[in-house]
Amino acid sequence: MTEIVLNIDGREVKATAGMTVLQAAQKEGIHIPTLCHHEKLEAFGGCRLCMVEVESRGWTSYVVSCLYPVAKDIVVRTRSEKVDKIRKVLVEELMAHAPDAPELIKLAEEYGADRNRFEKEASFCILCGLCVRYCNEVKQKNAVSFFDNGSVREIKFVPEVAKEACWDCQECFTICPTSYAQAAYLLTEALAFPGQRKTAVQAAPPPELKPRVIPIMPVPMTA
Ligand code: SF4
Ligand code: FES
Repeated sequence: MTEIVLNIDGREVKATAGMTVLQAAQKEGIHIPTLCHHEKLEAFGGCRLCMVEVESRGWTSYVVSCLYPVAKDIVVRTRSEKVDKIRKVLVEELMAHAPDAPELIKLAEEYGADRNRFEKEASFCILCGLCVRYCNEVKQKNAVSFFDNGSVREIKFVPEVAKEACWDCQECFTICPTSYAQAAYLLTEALAFPGQRKTAVQAAPPPELKPRVIPIMPVPMTA
């Protein structure tokens, strides 16, 4: 495997061809914030929070580190005035959708983001796609999907699939940065198959099924 040496935040980092800058940084314990990245999933490049500054052959550019491949002798800065400014605005935009998400609140503190900068359109989902991709790529169930595009894009559970696949899984609840996956599932259950999950659990409770204590966001009536 070809070894590639690059510089991240002043440190010499050894990576292998095919790795992304994010993977190379994580391998060295260098933190880059992410919202749509999960090590078990294909890179998505949706949230852009992992943006870093890259200097190569005298040129400086801003790249999404979860997609950008390592290259020989590039110089990466995970923090700079401009990088921090980009992340601040991204967090502000996301907070218009999920103002109370703990992960966003933490990021807002770190980057000095104003949670009220943009008009609220509280969908409670930041469309990071973690739930959709996890269900597809890891669980291979496709119980939750994206629907529509543009400003009306949203995630929804597919009732026919969710009814069978979700009640003993719910793994997407724990990776959702806003808790909306759980809220969307509970809404689907209440509307499409009320009480049926409970019946199934009571009939045959698997030993590993423990109630998850995850605070949920209020569910918008239009979801
Ligand atoms: S429900 Fe959660 S995990 Fe799924 S896309 Fe929305 S924010 Fe991401
Ligand atoms: S983590 Fe890279 S774009 Fe979201």
